[in-house]
Amino acid sequence: MNSDKIITIVGARPQFIKVAPVSNQIRRTTGLREILVHTGQHYDSNMSAVFFEELGINKPDYNLGISGGSHGAMTGQMLENIEAVLLQEKPRMVLVYGDTNSTLAGALAASKLHIPIAHIESGLRSFNKRMPEEINRILTDHCSSLLFVPTNGARENLLREGIDEAKIVYSGDVMFDACLQFSKALKEHPDCIRRAGLEPGHYVLSTIHRQENTDQEPRLQAIFEGLAKLNKTIPVLLPLHPRTKSRLEAVGLMDLALQLNLVDPVGYLDMLAFEKHASAIVTDSGGVQKEAYFNKVPCVTLRDETEWVELIDTGWNRLVPPTEGNVICQEALAAMRSKGQDVTLYGGGKASQKVASVIDQFLT
Ligand code: UD1
Ligand code: UDP
Repeated sequence: MNSDKIITIVGARPQFIKVAPVSNQIRRTTGLREILVHTGQHYDSNMSAVFFEELGINKPDYNLGISGGSHGAMTGQMLENIEAVLLQEKPRMVLVYGDTNSTLAGALAASKLHIPIAHIESGLRSFNKRMPEEINRILTDHCSSLLFVPTNGARENLLREGIDEAKIVYSGDVMFDACLQFSKALKEHPDCIRRAGLEPGHYVLSTIHRQENTDQEPRLQAIFEGLAKLNKTIPVLLPLHPRTKSRLEAVGLMDLALQLNLVDPVGYLDMLAFEKHASAIVTDSGGVQKEAYFNKVPCVTLRDETEWVELIDTGWNRLVPPTEGNVICQEALAAMRSKGQDVTLYGGGKASQKVASVIDQFLT
């Protein structure tokens, strides 16, 4: 039997985590054959290769080696290079994830060649069009043929924008699948918590990388002042994203950051272990907000808005715009003493199966 060729485009760390369970399901679907394209957006081994190795993702068939530069330059180069791959491979569908520049470039390249697009993690909105991610996800949604939504709120956002209901598929969240699947491997995983000099249940985990936080000095300063203050009460572990590292160095705030337990970005298994045993998580990451909830750990999100509003509504997450260090510290301490409601969000951990079977049916 001939299988239908689909091309999956990934490029940034969260996409490697999302693609792991989905590619696994696609491999098990006899009607489908996947070609994997890595744009190169994230390239350090601890931002890319570690995930392919740990999570058993196939080696990319193409690595376009495109990273850095302005948003326009990066997206434009990706568009040109992805188009060349699509012309050569002639897939029946292009699969993209989330809201990065790699997502938008993949979607634009496919739509100009009239190749149908499937978008995973569709329908999320921050309603802040100054975020590069908001533009990327709106444009991607509006040129997709299959829009896989992780929540009913995401479906409603799409309907409000006039997207045809027939294109929208509730799948649940593929990140929940990844978390469930790889948490099983934690038992045999080396004890990274003790190696970091920490006690399980007695530290706060933090990640910071969002452009609106790193590239506005007052916000970056408030965040690291807040975390440094918190660190006087409870150790703060922070795997440092390369964007944040370079901004801290550029504006002379690295000494403040060095008061924390700073480590290089870690692999997904270490990250799951750090999340599972944290007293609280303080982050501006989309994925980490949800993983806090998956692990039933209270979370503080240092942003003005979040796409994952159900976490706020159910008390698992509190939104704290990062303008004052003292407030950040107080909110983190308060979060440590809080618990959210006993609710089931993001589906049953079978989103990847749904995605593979719906794509298979769509192409048949
Ligand atoms: C990107 C995504 C963001 C996502 C984040 C996940 C866009 C617009 N942004 O942001 O939505 O939440 O990834 O982590 O697509 N760098 C390195 N090594 C790497 C990767 C990046 O040094 O392996 C440095 C480069 O100097 C680069 C900077 O980090 O210029 C920013 O990287 P970039 O991919 O542009 O954006 P992120 O902030 O990582
Ligand atoms: N992550 C990781 N190591 C780290 C930091 C994050 O494996 O040092 C994982 C995290 O568990 C989550 C994903 O990366 O699955 C989130 O990616 P990121 O925060 O970079 O992007 P976002 O989700 O905000 O787009």
